[in-house]
Amino acid sequence: MSYAQTYAQWQADPTGFWEALAEDIHWYKRWDTVLDDSQAPIYRWFKGGVTNTCYNALDRHVENGRADQLALVYDSPVTNSQQTFTYRELRDEVAKLAGVIRSLGVEKGDRVIIYMPMVPEAVMAMLACARIGAIHSVVFGGFAAKELATRIDDALPKLIMSASCGIEPTRIVEYKPLLDDAIDMAEHKVERTLILQRDQHGCDCIAERDVDWGDAMAAAEPVDCVPVQATDPCYILYTSGTTGQPKGIVRDTGGHMVALKYSMKTVYGVEPGEVYWAASDVGWVVGHSYIVYAPLLHGCTSIMYEGKPVGTPDAGAFWRVIEEHKVNVLFTAPTAFRAIKREDPQGELVKNYDLSAFRGLFFAGERCDPDTLHWGEDKLGVPVIDHWWQTETGWAICANPVGIETLPVKAGSTTVPMPGYDVQILDPNGQPLPANEIGAVCVKLPLPPSALPTLWQRDDLYKAKYLNHYPGYYSTADAGFKDEDGYLHIMARTDDIINVAGHRLSTGAMEEVLASHVDVAECAVLGVNDELKGEIPIGLLVLNAGVTRDHADIAAEVVQMVRERIGPVAAFKKATVVKRLPKTRSGKILRGTIKRIADNTPWDMPATIDDPTILDEMAEAVATLGYGKGSS
Ligand code: COA
Ligand code: AMP
Repeated sequence: MSYAQTYAQWQADPTGFWEALAEDIHWYKRWDTVLDDSQAPIYRWFKGGVTNTCYNALDRHVENGRADQLALVYDSPVTNSQQTFTYRELRDEVAKLAGVIRSLGVEKGDRVIIYMPMVPEAVMAMLACARIGAIHSVVFGGFAAKELATRIDDALPKLIMSASCGIEPTRIVEYKPLLDDAIDMAEHKVERTLILQRDQHGCDCIAERDVDWGDAMAAAEPVDCVPVQATDPCYILYTSGTTGQPKGIVRDTGGHMVALKYSMKTVYGVEPGEVYWAASDVGWVVGHSYIVYAPLLHGCTSIMYEGKPVGTPDAGAFWRVIEEHKVNVLFTAPTAFRAIKREDPQGELVKNYDLSAFRGLFFAGERCDPDTLHWGEDKLGVPVIDHWWQTETGWAICANPVGIETLPVKAGSTTVPMPGYDVQILDPNGQPLPANEIGAVCVKLPLPPSALPTLWQRDDLYKAKYLNHYPGYYSTADAGFKDEDGYLHIMARTDDIINVAGHRLSTGAMEEVLASHVDVAECAVLGVNDELKGEIPIGLLVLNAGVTRDHADIAAEVVQMVRERIGPVAAFKKATVVKRLPKTRSGKILRGTIKRIADNTPWDMPATIDDPTILDEMAEAVATLGYGKGSS
């Protein structure tokens, strides 16, 4: 069947389409209703169904002939070590770990925060929660204590699972002091933590609160999977919103599994038993969906890589992993390939490796520039596919459906909507726009399985942030257009979110930090184009009257504050002082115009500017940071 026929089949009978796919999942009890729309615009998939994610990801395969197949391969150039787990071994470890967390008081429905580096125990922690119906919330290791504290206060976890350290190529990241600070800062008092001591760097523990992971595992009894409702949350994943308050994206249990399993073949063309590698981090949605859940639900071998595309030890690291583990498909962010291309522009290192098993490269997380796409095609000789999705959806909204039919690749486009998504480009009045006109990219409700049913404990905020702008639609906050062939082109965000090395960050949250500096009267943070990371944030500061301190000192202080409050992942390293900021008559800072000046892209004089010299001042300011007329 062609893509067009499959999409038409879904359109003709959306619930029947997903109901048939739900047969690929094990259910203790089938659903009563495929799609419950009684609370629309909040929808629930497979209501009344009873299932378990861990059973489907592990036990089911052990019982059905995959017990001795590798489930997880951990490859860690930063520790110079590797570890493998068959499905049976992983199931046994997870069952014991589930016993540990239950012995620490965690039951079905309780929340568990996982703040861990890229070690197999992080995957086990997620699956152990799923095994007993606890709701995990993984927090990326590059976030600071304050961000962790915010998530603790929203999720109200019973337990935090963490480790002594993470390992970045140039430094050890001590997790424990960050964890201790976060627990101190949070209002919700976490009573128990489970701490994995890593050989590379240990940590001190607080006797009555911190439990040693290794000791607890040695004494643990395995526990069985606990049946949960299809509509029960499997996890919460916080993602940047337009303020410092992150949004708790809820992923349900049943719909999540049905869609992810479907995506493995449809989006990535992968069969059970094949080797799948998502070079991301378990702290991001890509890691949740494609390091952990989808490959395991599909019976694949998943690669977990604790390293970087370059520097661990060189720009051939990815090719080494592909050769060594016979990777069939790689999924990463374009920024990783820009890093490789920068160090090895001719792709000389590719030639040192046998990539014969490798058949497809998938990019997502940020806009894919055509140069990077073509470089991948040329050097690797495989299709390079850009696809577009969000933390909110958990799987691709638009992709090239290679498992159904490979459509012609158009660089700059994320191809076509997946079955389940009716993507429309709307004007500000909510009217569909014709081909090639840019507008708000929206998805007609209901969203397909796996997409968020709501925000954690905040139906009101879910409606306000996503549904109220265009009634009947989910607003993606991306702007883009469909071309004459129906291909989607994602061009920009319509809010203050920027994508830094494929990581989603809010400039509004950074502005909140800058504005809290005692000498800062007002400020603007904008994402400017960056050759490696796609975008990076820069800050412009207006100081309080009478401040006579050295401007460079103040700039350095705000840089440090962002690192301490949001985390190194924000990559906020540049700020400068200006006399004033350009604004609209209603007082909104013209960030878009400043960004265009910094990016050296054409811009029109805004009608609200009475004194054009203010824009010369902006050009001078960004030039001091190496942008605009100051850039090469
Ligand atoms: N724990 C603690 N700190 C972390 C971290 C973690 N898990 N991950 C990143 N950091 C730190 C880095 O050490 C760096 O700190 P620094 O300012 O002291 O140098 C900072 O956060 C920024 O990290 P990053 O954006 O990853 O930049 P980088 O220069 O270290 O590496 C790339 C750049 C492009 C190589 C890297 O971002 C990459 O491989 N990205 C592609 C894959 C990916 O992660 N995609 C995400 C979604 S698919
Ligand atoms: P995240 O929730 O971190 O996955 O970030 C989602 C956002 O990243 C989207 O809303 C887009 O703005 C951007 N994004 C993700 N994938 C792509 C892509 N393939 N092309 C363009 N932008 C993308």
